[in-house]
Amino acid sequence: MYLGLDLGTSGIKAMLVDDDFATIGVAHAPLTVGRPHPGWSEQDPADWIAEAEKVIGDLARQHPDAMARLRAIGLSGHMHGATLLDRGDQVLRPCILWNDGRSGPQCAELAARADFHGIAGNLVMAGFTAPKLLWVAENEPEIFERTAKVLLPKDYLRLWLTGEHVGEMSDAAGTLWLDVARRDWSDELLAATGLDRAQMPTLVEGSDVSGRLRADLAERWGVARVPVAGGGGDNAATACGMGVMVPGTGFLSLGTSGVLFAATETYAPNTGDAVHTFCHAVPATWHQMGVILSATDSMTWLSEITGRAVPELAAMVPENVAAPSPVGFLPYLSGERTPLNDPDATGAFWGLRRATGLADLSQSVMEGVAFAFADCVHALRKAGTPIEAAYAVGGGARSRAWLRIMASATGLTLLEPEDGDFGAAFGAAKLAAACATGDTSARIFAPPAVRAEIAPDAALAAAYAKKYEAYRAAYPQLKALPDSRA
Ligand code: XUL
Repeated sequence: MYLGLDLGTSGIKAMLVDDDFATIGVAHAPLTVGRPHPGWSEQDPADWIAEAEKVIGDLARQHPDAMARLRAIGLSGHMHGATLLDRGDQVLRPCILWNDGRSGPQCAELAARADFHGIAGNLVMAGFTAPKLLWVAENEPEIFERTAKVLLPKDYLRLWLTGEHVGEMSDAAGTLWLDVARRDWSDELLAATGLDRAQMPTLVEGSDVSGRLRADLAERWGVARVPVAGGGGDNAATACGMGVMVPGTGFLSLGTSGVLFAATETYAPNTGDAVHTFCHAVPATWHQMGVILSATDSMTWLSEITGRAVPELAAMVPENVAAPSPVGFLPYLSGERTPLNDPDATGAFWGLRRATGLADLSQSVMEGVAFAFADCVHALRKAGTPIEAAYAVGGGARSRAWLRIMASATGLTLLEPEDGDFGAAFGAAKLAAACATGDTSARIFAPPAVRAEIAPDAALAAAYAKKYEAYRAAYPQLKALPDSRA
């Protein structure tokens, strides 16, 4: 038995699987995001622990026999968040999340101080961890002074589970302090942010042991003091769950954020078009990603402002969309990473008429997100990673209409996995298995069977090619308008 724990932006999930990776039990608890100022996005790490206690406790109550046979735990979590701890491991401020854009002004300053592009292999982007620390140094200097450790969100859960300060490569690559080729902290990049190695956790690979479960928690849940695997950032962990480990394989994730992920066998950075180049969660493997900040979050936003539930909005879009919505949509509600690297980019609707209805808006939101993915396909291609087919995962992938729109707008053939839950928690459970068995081969990281292939539809793809031109033209024109914020 293996347990995968995934700290997501909108909720935490624990998944118990047997030695053949069949699901024994799943428990879920919601989390909320605080937005105290426009562009900010924060969570209280105490909530992560409270909810993690709840979901693991649920599994322990519902599956005591299976839990007694637990062999290892794997962790996954949303990436880039800055969890700042003092010398006594007390949290100093709310965690600043991956989709927080406040550190935009710090990015250029940081990029000028050291060779971030060369060593970290990535553009200095708001949302990554390093510029957040510079923001804290400049705006909350007393907190920066007291910062003894900087942990990524899932690594803070590990500290609670094991008492150890340990991180792993896939998530550490998203801090901008990792020498991504050498898989070690870069003293130069840390120094450029006013930090040093002592403030960083020890690094392991995702499939390595990072520590053992604390005795009191083991007793509470009726499990042994099992090893906790390094685990992975949520995208690398998802890839582990989908068997996306070798070149030529990829996935498209429609979660709060949107990710187009491709595995690479070498370190292949390309900072053009804001492509992300990170370590994978198993040794000697890397990956590239295009990341958009508001994927299903764009639908969540439409749901919040209209008062209609997301499934209700999604049901307004015909499953076999025949023509583009007359309305255009830019999904830059939290700024954008790939390909713009612009934390100040804003969203927009255009083409509104008196006859426009909510169904048009729902479809246009799905299309806008699909065009943002088309940008990611082009960005990865330019970075030397052509991608033709990808597994579709994440909550939004449950909408057949959205997948059809996505295939025709991006040119990708989308592979729908057979029934099952192949998200980051499942990948974390697989990393737990790799850690317990020492096996990082395709025997553990096997891809799921494909239930359906959703290929682009020629007529719709031609119509979307025209609409994509309008989409591409909209951003620079909107950017040129004066900002009407007070
Ligand atoms: C990746 C990223 C997001 C978060 C969301 O760079 O910022 O995908 O990991 O969970």
